[in-house]
Amino acid sequence: MTRISIRRPDDWHLHLRDGDMLKGVIGDSSRHFARAIIMPNLVPPVVTTQDAQAYRQRIMAALPAGDRFEPLMTLYLTEHTDADDVEAGKASGLIHAVKLYPAGATTNSHGGVRDMDKAMPVLERMAKIGLPLCVHGEVTTPEVDIFDREAVFIETVLDPLRKRLPELKITMEHVTTSNGIDYIKSAENNLAGTITTHHLIINRNAILVGGIRPHYYCLPVAKRESHRLALRAAATSGDSRFFLGTDSAPHVDPLKECGCGCAGIYTSINTMSCLAHVFEEDGALDRLEAFSSLNGPAWYGLAPNEDRITLEKQAEPVSFPAKIETGAGPVTVFDPMFPVHWSVV
Ligand code: DOR
Ligand code: ZN
Repeated sequence: MTRISIRRPDDWHLHLRDGDMLKGVIGDSSRHFARAIIMPNLVPPVVTTQDAQAYRQRIMAALPAGDRFEPLMTLYLTEHTDADDVEAGKASGLIHAVKLYPAGATTNSHGGVRDMDKAMPVLERMAKIGLPLCVHGEVTTPEVDIFDREAVFIETVLDPLRKRLPELKITMEHVTTSNGIDYIKSAENNLAGTITTHHLIINRNAILVGGIRPHYYCLPVAKRESHRLALRAAATSGDSRFFLGTDSAPHVDPLKECGCGCAGIYTSINTMSCLAHVFEEDGALDRLEAFSSLNGPAWYGLAPNEDRITLEKQAEPVSFPAKIETGAGPVTVFDPMFPVHWSVV
């Protein structure tokens, strides 16, 4: 197969940032994706419905002329989040999920949740009104090894929460381990997982072998090869509980290439080409549409997009810029380390 037409994809986990960075990156998402779940970890975070309304307006104002793109807004869960505000946000059609960042887990997560008990009233309301919780599934306990933080989160936070509140719909974001995949598969309902493009392609060697490579550093950090293979199998299986969330997370190069570099990989610009390569390699091109265009909307209770995109396999490798220039500074583009022949035409 050298040409494939699929319904227009959506990105169920995206960082668009704000200001000059937002203006510099949004076109790379709106070119291929119809909708995206927008992460709320700005400084200060998007905590209230009013914050989300204002952020949505800034996103729409930054959209390239003529592009159609629907930002699906989320709220950043804190220990003081107001359940009535969350309910009003959902009722107005603006809010599509609430995001749990364990405090300290990742970029701008210090305002997140330390004590899950304090978040229970909001989570109970969300269960009642059918609003999904997106989770960054890593514990922050200093004693826990960074490569084990997802598995320990499942055991000590996620599973107890699901037992306490089985009606709550939970999206486990950017699953990086076979433990995560197995846990999602074992759940009877109310649990799904997003998988990033880069976690389907790199394992932890990409970050550490032959020199330290900050542009492959993200959170949750890429794990060993056996985990990557489990993610690949889940993504390409067609199982409706798994779908694309790129977690494309731009940082300017000086903040990545330094003594304490930020976590995040920028993939919005070449995600669909990389995914076509991955799915072709696994003999699953016919399931790319389920992963990138069908399973996500079904989970979030939305219709799939009506329009389509076409991917075509080129004889020569397709070139993407090594960096994009934004008003905030240069952002390095994810390099999958293999030639990519698929392009969106
Ligand atoms: O790599 C990451 N970057 N992981 C996250 O969880 C946050 C994100 C960011 O906002 O930079
Ligand atoms: Zn993220």
